[in-house]
Amino acid sequence: MNSKLIAPSVLAADFANLQRDIEMINQSEADWFHIDIMDGVFVPNISFGMPVLEAINKHAKKTIDVHLMIVDPDRYIQTFKDLGADILTVHYEACTHLHRSLQAIKSAGMKAGVAINPHTNVALLEDCIADIDLVCIMSVNPGFGGQSFIENTYKKVKQLKEIITRNQANTLIEIDGGVTNKNAKALVDAGADVLVAGSYVFKAKNPIETIADLKQIIK
Ligand code: DX5
Ligand code: ZN
Repeated sequence: MNSKLIAPSVLAADFANLQRDIEMINQSEADWFHIDIMDGVFVPNISFGMPVLEAINKHAKKTIDVHLMIVDPDRYIQTFKDLGADILTVHYEACTHLHRSLQAIKSAGMKAGVAINPHTNVALLEDCIADIDLVCIMSVNPGFGGQSFIENTYKKVKQLKEIITRNQANTLIEIDGGVTNKNAKALVDAGADVLVAGSYVFKAKNPIETIADLKQIIK
């Protein structure tokens, strides 16, 4: 069995102490850095962009998992590679030619991810599942950290797991939004491989311990 991964979302970090928070993740049992890029068009919020990712990449010592919540992401694929992204995830709802976007991400030397909004049926991914390294199931409406987990997510994880198995694909299932110690175990039991956690980690009194607890729960 693959080990299950925790990806703290830097969106919930203290941006005035970003280096400190990055070092905390480096020293913790976390597996990846999850980086949320929002353009104020695809989602009703603007997070941060290239210069901030460049700064994060200077200090981050783990896999950089970039979640693009932007329209027309093809414009920036090479840019995000140059900025240090290891995994680049685009939204299904933002890509007219998803298959082409996936190929472009892989040609640039990154793993290719597809994120789906809560209203998007996982069955829509069946025809390109073999080309997807990671599916990010949004368990909140994208745009903001700190929202409540949508319970329908469990059903989607199970359905996606069936699609992956049926197609003998090598796709990881990532869950993004409202992840806590309360839903982590049920999510991995349903088939999730990677759990993104923002506020739950960064608002905790002891983020390092909180990450260790999450890792223990999903072991
Ligand atoms: C939401 C982002 C998430 C968010 C998760 O649009 O994609 O990655 O930062 O934050 P929490 O864990 O606080 O829901
Ligand atoms: Zn995200």
